[in-house]
Amino acid sequence: MSCRILAGLTLILMFVRCQAKPEFAPTPTLPPSLGPTATLFPWISERGGQTFLKSRLGKCLFRSPLPVIYPATSGKLRELAEVNGVWVGTSVAANPLLRKNEYSTAVARDFNLIVPEVGLKFEIVHPEPDRYDFCQMDTILAFAEANGMRVRGHPLVWEQQLPPWVRELSLSQEQWKALLQDHVSRLVTRYRGEIEEWDVVNELFKEEGTLKETIWYENVGPEYIELALRWAHDADPNARLFINEFATENLNSKSNALYALAQDLLARGVPLHGIGFQMHLTESNPPNPAQVADNFRRFGELGLEVQITELDVRILKPVTPENLAHQAEIYQALMEVCLSAPNCDTFVMWGVSDRNSWINYVHEEWGSPLILDEAYAPKPAYWALVETLQP
Ligand code: GLA
Repeated sequence: MSCRILAGLTLILMFVRCQAKPEFAPTPTLPPSLGPTATLFPWISERGGQTFLKSRLGKCLFRSPLPVIYPATSGKLRELAEVNGVWVGTSVAANPLLRKNEYSTAVARDFNLIVPEVGLKFEIVHPEPDRYDFCQMDTILAFAEANGMRVRGHPLVWEQQLPPWVRELSLSQEQWKALLQDHVSRLVTRYRGEIEEWDVVNELFKEEGTLKETIWYENVGPEYIELALRWAHDADPNARLFINEFATENLNSKSNALYALAQDLLARGVPLHGIGFQMHLTESNPPNPAQVADNFRRFGELGLEVQITELDVRILKPVTPENLAHQAEIYQALMEVCLSAPNCDTFVMWGVSDRNSWINYVHEEWGSPLILDEAYAPKPAYWALVETLQP
């Protein structure tokens, strides 16, 4: 094929892709240095051995269709989740989903919901002031569509995994607001109708229950939470919007503060639909299931959904069969709490298998946190969930 024909085809493909998704109109108050300077000039990029065609608008075209694994390969956990109307999820990386391999097979075999591990983190999706890169998230979404899975959006506003340019900014309060509004609105608008629920604000409280002085708190003001929820709602009025927090599963100062915040936001008509409980747990100090149930109930009484959003139960090494059996009991108890709460139907783990967990990098003296082992084989915790879901 001649270069001219190739270039023509490229432009046609880009045009089709541009039409397929709504684009966010830049905020008029955006400072000039942050304004979009995108051009339609495409280039080829190589990621994970796959060729992508990208444009400065952050579009990302797959060279080949993503693997279809489900329902031909389905595991007990996903089958039973579907029978029970429950969403059993995992966080995922984009690159290993591009081909049929152990990782992508386990994802589609055992889970019916996925959430990007880093694909929507600010540093990945908005790496430069005038550039958004949706490549990873588009990959994850295409895999979910091919395998009949739901997708959670995570996170829109967080103080971590920010690119250096954000930390180096010196802006007025109005400009900070415009920057955050642009970020929130672009992400939600791009995936309107495809991502139906978002963790709008992630990790906002200190342990004793006061708001963290994050970059957004300091520069936009404490109202950044409410503003982000309103901007997300304006961008997609049908999306369900969550606040996502850790160490709030028990009744404690932090979960009380979260409850008071939710009550206040709802009383003032701020769009908030649910609370995500991360639950990065340790096998030696699990939460109290009765307290978790009471906690879920009180948020339910406010009309809020609750979800377990990032569950893992790490074990202090060396890992023994007894530890694994206890870990299974913890997973089971939490699934039981979720199944018996009328406002809980979503149970998401942070990582596909013990081989892929963040615990391996951050808490090296701990291990074995998930329900599939390093070879993607079911562990006792997997079978405990299966048992709990049996009709
Ligand atoms: C937090 C974040 C997640 C992830 C985990 C661990 O809980 O919400 O996105 O980064 O930490 O890596």
